Amino acid sequence: MTQHVTRAAAEGWQRESIALGCDYNPEQWPESVWADDMALMREAGVSLVAINVFGWAQLEPRPGEFDFASLDRIMDLLHENGIRVNLGTGTASPPPWLTTRHPEILPMMVDGTIRWPGGRQAWCPSSPVFREAALTLLAAVADRYSEHPALALWHVSNELGCHNALCYCDVSAASFRRWLENRYATLERVNDAWGTVSWSQRYATWDEILPPRATISAGNPAQRLDFARFSSDELLDYYRAEAELLREKGSTPVTTNFMITAHIRTQDYWQWAADVDIVANDHYLDHRLEHPTSELAFAADLTRGVASGQPWMLMEQSTSAVSWQPHNIAKQPGEMTRNSLTHVARGADAVCFFQWRASVRGAEKFHSALLPHAGTDSKIWRETLELGRALSRLAEVAGSRVEASVALIFSWQSWWATESDSHPSSAVTYLGQVHAAYEALRSAGVTVDMVEPGARLDDYSLVVVPCLYLVSDADSAVLSGYVERGGTALVTFFSGLADETDRLRVDPTGCRPPGAFADLLGLWTEEAFPLKTTETLTLSDGRAASVWSETVRLTTASAITTFIDGPVAGSPAITRNSRGSGTAWYVATALDEASYFTLVSDVLADAGVPVSGLPRGVESTTRTNDTHRYTFVINHTMSDAALDAHGIELLTGERVHSTLSIPGGQVRVIKQERTSNDA
Ligand code: GAL
Repeated sequence: MTQHVTRAAAEGWQRESIALGCDYNPEQWPESVWADDMALMREAGVSLVAINVFGWAQLEPRPGEFDFASLDRIMDLLHENGIRVNLGTGTASPPPWLTTRHPEILPMMVDGTIRWPGGRQAWCPSSPVFREAALTLLAAVADRYSEHPALALWHVSNELGCHNALCYCDVSAASFRRWLENRYATLERVNDAWGTVSWSQRYATWDEILPPRATISAGNPAQRLDFARFSSDELLDYYRAEAELLREKGSTPVTTNFMITAHIRTQDYWQWAADVDIVANDHYLDHRLEHPTSELAFAADLTRGVASGQPWMLMEQSTSAVSWQPHNIAKQPGEMTRNSLTHVARGADAVCFFQWRASVRGAEKFHSALLPHAGTDSKIWRETLELGRALSRLAEVAGSRVEASVALIFSWQSWWATESDSHPSSAVTYLGQVHAAYEALRSAGVTVDMVEPGARLDDYSLVVVPCLYLVSDADSAVLSGYVERGGTALVTFFSGLADETDRLRVDPTGCRPPGAFADLLGLWTEEAFPLKTTETLTLSDGRAASVWSETVRLTTASAITTFIDGPVAGSPAITRNSRGSGTAWYVATALDEASYFTLVSDVLADAGVPVSGLPRGVESTTRTNDTHRYTFVINHTMSDAALDAHGIELLTGERVHSTLSIPGGQVRVIKQERTSNDA
């Protein structure tokens, strides 16, 4: 497990407040607009802006020829206006001169086709030519601005791996081989890890190994898994090269914007966390999901997990619609503030947006911004001002930590491996199962910490393990040890099945599915019976399920419910096992929302975790520091809600003696002094 150390979070960008910020692309506007921008930013309370993210073609119009005049003026102007800069290194997208001179840096897709310039991020992560050119630019940028008084934070590249994470070119192939040599040392071990005895795939020399390019049949899943690991490591290595150069030039904190979100899964951010001085995330509501707001809370909790519980930055979100989904849904009145404060409630100490002024040209001209096309007489601008006021009233919350007594084990590597080809059911998606577990916990009013496999679990009353298909012996031993010492775990189907090489944990001497967790759960599964998409099943206690069923054979566990219909009628569906001083629950199917909620409520009661009792759609989390507790209550419903509480409500300044009312769609934050009992 990686030990995460975020440095310098307290210096540079972070003040005694929650920053309001945005991407700012002044180069898209005549300079005559800049003064207005400054005045309006000050009015809104914008204190941190990201500039120069895509600056390369302006800064270096021809190879080796730099023009900093415009960026100098912007840096100075921001400084004069008391606005701090999150300075992009400018390397996110190569300028046309570079791709014209060096077309070999262009990324190659899985089918061997090239992605051409004309969009963004068209570069191969393994390209030494790209890296050299980018570091040349960066050295010039760092020399010029590392002592600038406006500089608060370095913003390396942009969303590394958003578009170019997987490159299959020959340069990547050579780098992949080096990575494999480093991981396995011998070709024999690669052959073993990839199970190349199947389908005549045995490698005799290193140079026969390629990236997993498109194949005529199903490809090798272990090769794909290692390529996913390699590709994440490759961009991390690239990030490190930029960060190292910046750290040689000064002590300003360095970060990059992660994409902890539902639609991008290319980076294993558990591996990245130790290399950023502050964890920063970009999050956009995804209206292709069933519960976009739940996913927002989930992503915020996962970002906090990646930050090891320390405050983090929301580096980008949108004020209203984005421009890259099939249907770009605009935000309802109040939604932007509510969503922003949901991030704060879950540990964000900065709320930033893409972007300041809505563009009129280019691919993002229909994307919302703090200052919309409609100007200041608009819902969006009024809400921008409202958010600025809200964040200033919450200033004292900065630096506090979120309390949670339940953990959920999250793994990007299990995500990659679960969704391999040739699995029992394409309806078993990693995030689908993880989100379902999370939504049940959220509906029960429980705050969840996301932890990586192998993390210390002893401080949690309950650990939820959804769809942890791939798990190492060491990481599974941590979970078993936690339960044996008195913890409670809830494990879901399709967990524990494979080791790190995607080899199923089955051996002739007796290990049977669910492999790593069979002893812990006190059962084994005889056969999986995935369900047709339209099929739903009923359990003996009336709960409803779909997607999956399996024949469960109990060893030491007891059945809580059984399937009463479907292919495994009579087989246990939910089980409970006493193990050492603790308890391990198992659910052998995908419950529907109402059923999952009741199961989670039962398991929480078993684990002694109090539930909030708030109505569905009203969420509450608490941040604490040495002296105070700040309880955020976010009412996503349109009905008023109420809660027993006393203390000062920070957004309205009211003193609350017994009942806190939270009007429909609004947020309230109660501040209370900590007592000695809170410790
Ligand atoms: C992000 C990106 C921004 C902007 C934004 C639009 O992925 O970092 O530059 O494109 O999306 O939603």
